[in-house]
Amino acid sequence: MIQTLEWTNDGVRFIDQTKLPTEEIYVTCKTYEQVADAIQTMIVRGAPAIGVAAAMGIALGVRDSNAENPAELKHDLDRICDIIGKTRPTAVNLFWAIRRMQEKFERLRVRPLEQIKHELVEEAKRMHAEDIAANKAMGRHGATLMPSSGGVLTHCNAGALATAGYGTALGVIRAAVEKGKKIHVYADETRPFLQGARLTAWELMKDGIPTTVISDNMAGAMMSQGKIGAIVVGADRIAANGDVANKIGTYTVAVLAKENGIPFYVAAPISTVDLACSDGSRIPIEQRNASEVTHIAGKQMVPDGVSIENPAFDITPAKYVSAIVTERGIARAPYEASLQKLAAVEADVQI
Ligand code: MRU
Repeated sequence: MIQTLEWTNDGVRFIDQTKLPTEEIYVTCKTYEQVADAIQTMIVRGAPAIGVAAAMGIALGVRDSNAENPAELKHDLDRICDIIGKTRPTAVNLFWAIRRMQEKFERLRVRPLEQIKHELVEEAKRMHAEDIAANKAMGRHGATLMPSSGGVLTHCNAGALATAGYGTALGVIRAAVEKGKKIHVYADETRPFLQGARLTAWELMKDGIPTTVISDNMAGAMMSQGKIGAIVVGADRIAANGDVANKIGTYTVAVLAKENGIPFYVAAPISTVDLACSDGSRIPIEQRNASEVTHIAGKQMVPDGVSIENPAFDITPAKYVSAIVTERGIARAPYEASLQKLAAVEADVQI
């Protein structure tokens, strides 16, 4: 399996996703500030991977803290969480991971310093293992929704590279293929950062899953020509009413899917569901640097001085979502009830 990120005694090791697909380079972040930078610059990206990276960054910062007692360590923990929490605003997994590490610290507060540090490192490693297990469970549920053969379109990269391993949307596709379904993936290139062209195509080719890359503006034509039997994407945050924040362009795909009578599925772990967020209008949308739009691979594509917008995500209203696949089962409309029910059940995920 692709090692998106892993804990090592030297620090947190990442495959550098800004270099893929032409170079497979690994970087080790030795401080929590370097981990924060890796999240911000998208060396690591994808909501679940961001969450696990944040947990590991916190564990690293705590492990290497010079605090002499739990109160001082708490002070350091708060500073570390604050810095890591400012990296990317949309993926709720980041804040979920920070909260989980803070809660773990609170439970350990009365223990010796070295034990607190050790347990926080173990907690981050556990989150890594749990994420892979969740993706496999998601795959088992979601595979039942995939057509037995034909085209499945995906947007951005919700694969092994966006998670601790296996993937959410691509986990569903992988599980369907493992069950013998003959799926051909259509990967939107996903401008401006090209996660589909660079990352989804790279990891599916490694697995030998037939893949065709299309530019984003080809998706509608592929659907109307009958080449697409289903769509499956990931999510950065799902509001309580089922509205979905995902990579910019997802909304367009969902509307086109409805027009063409194609099911549009979202695969995401329960940690991506934000029940405190009533609907999509409350989800903060990250605005990224204009250079991601103005330049491709360092080459300027637009005239000097032109105005640019670069929202990294959009909101797909729940009415376009045919089902939400989680590790605990499949939610269908009305999502207020189905998501709340899934969030309340015990996880059936085996590590
Ligand atoms: O900006 P990115 O590359 O972090 O955005 C990633 C996505 O939009 C993914 O679809 C989402 O995080 C789900 S990943 C399993």
